[in-house]
Amino acid sequence: MGAMSDASKTTNAKKVFIKTYGCQMNVYDSDRMTDALADHGFSPTQDMGEADLVLLNTCHIREKAAEKVYSELGRIRDFRNEREPGAKKMLIGVAGCVAQAEGEEIMARAPAVDLVFGPQSYHRLPELVARADRERVIDTDFPEEDKFAHLPAPKKEVTISRGLTAFLTVQEGCDKFCSFCVVPYTRGAEVSRPVAQVIAEARALADAGVREITLLGQNVNAYHGVDDKGRQIGLGELCYLLAEIEGLARIRYTTSHPRDMDDALIAAHRDLDKLMPYLHLPVQSGSDTILKAMNRRHTAAQYLEIIDRIKQARPDMALSGDFIVGFPGETDRDFADTLDMVKKVGYASAFSFKYSTRPGTPGAEMDNQVPEAVKAERLEALQAEITAHQTAFNAGCVGLTLPVLLEKKGRNPGQIAGRSPYLQPVHIEADESLIGQILPVEIVDRAKNSLVGTIVTSKVQAV
Ligand code: SAH
Ligand code: SF4
Ligand code: F3S
Repeated sequence: MGAMSDASKTTNAKKVFIKTYGCQMNVYDSDRMTDALADHGFSPTQDMGEADLVLLNTCHIREKAAEKVYSELGRIRDFRNEREPGAKKMLIGVAGCVAQAEGEEIMARAPAVDLVFGPQSYHRLPELVARADRERVIDTDFPEEDKFAHLPAPKKEVTISRGLTAFLTVQEGCDKFCSFCVVPYTRGAEVSRPVAQVIAEARALADAGVREITLLGQNVNAYHGVDDKGRQIGLGELCYLLAEIEGLARIRYTTSHPRDMDDALIAAHRDLDKLMPYLHLPVQSGSDTILKAMNRRHTAAQYLEIIDRIKQARPDMALSGDFIVGFPGETDRDFADTLDMVKKVGYASAFSFKYSTRPGTPGAEMDNQVPEAVKAERLEALQAEITAHQTAFNAGCVGLTLPVLLEKKGRNPGQIAGRSPYLQPVHIEADESLIGQILPVEIVDRAKNSLVGTIVTSKVQAV
């Protein structure tokens, strides 16, 4: 792996162990932290025992996610204390959204922690680690400078070692302030990266053999990056530019807000074969009363109308979503509207969560909090409905021939694993020399969450 080659180039190679929680943006950020530290003599390790620096990249979205951090910190502290006498020094750092939201509390509750820093400080990481060697450090400011302009790009061999698909953050933060959500507080106001920066990063990825990129943002379709002429361009226009990059075969983006699905983005879905026909468009609830209380600023009917327009542009579009059950004030009737929404849209997949009260958000102050038992009941019913649709969607793929990006070796020898345009994992009996290609695959069977296929021809498809 890239880790070995990096380590061999430095004289006093140190090791960093990063554990990542939460969303795809944290996955992307963890790689960028690895890249930032690589220039300062740190190579990544999967083995905490040999780490000089242990970082937790944390998520604050629900209470459980945040609490997990403290229990994990306890385990790491014990691990550090129980090592042999004379073991090398090991610093413990906390990054991500819990660090941003409750940095001071971490410092107080977890004295073993040497370093706490928020998502806007990642470009300062080497300097923060050097300081943490001498004193406890906390950095949760929102600095003026452009973090992304200061984060070093990975070496080509490192990108190659990370595989054929890659994340690319184009937008960070959120100005929507849904009344249940911590993201506007943990990630700050919406910021879009300049167009040239995004294109350069996408080119470097393609140059290292990456075939599929997923553009990331907490509100990715609110993207409004500035181009070289000083014009602001939206996500739709950005997709046209990215589609011109040679070698790059597939473009995806996540997560979108229904209000930002503008005509240009819908037109991009009509025009660009490289833009995959799979859209994660969370709605959270099917009830207008609850949508209003959530401050989503659209109705159920408006959401369905947006989906209609998208399907007119791209009839084979598959949809995915997020739902919250048990938001304050949610009645049986409201919940029935949510089930109805799932039936109407027929999601290819969807995530659903019990409402979790987050301190500092308006939802936490609302009356009519729903009892846990009711939330659990509703979650079960919703998940059954979602699973039924997901199963039907997968079943509908059997017999079709789909272009599949052959990504990696499969679980068993002689097997390779890929992804359909609709993000379904596809298992294929085929030679691993085909990895990296996009080939037509006839879907012959399905398992619970994946498909089974056979390659129709070994010719590379023109995408
Ligand atoms: N930016 C995205 C979602 C970010 S959080 C969007 O606008 O949709 C990912 C998902 O977590 C949300 O879509 C929501 O379904 C869920 N979520 C966020 N806050 C939550 C809370 N307080 N309790 C339960 N689920 C929550
Ligand atoms: Fe949270 Fe709403 Fe922003 Fe999504 S749009 S990140 S749910 S505040
Ligand atoms: Fe969690 Fe922060 Fe992502 S709260 S979902 S890691 S933006």
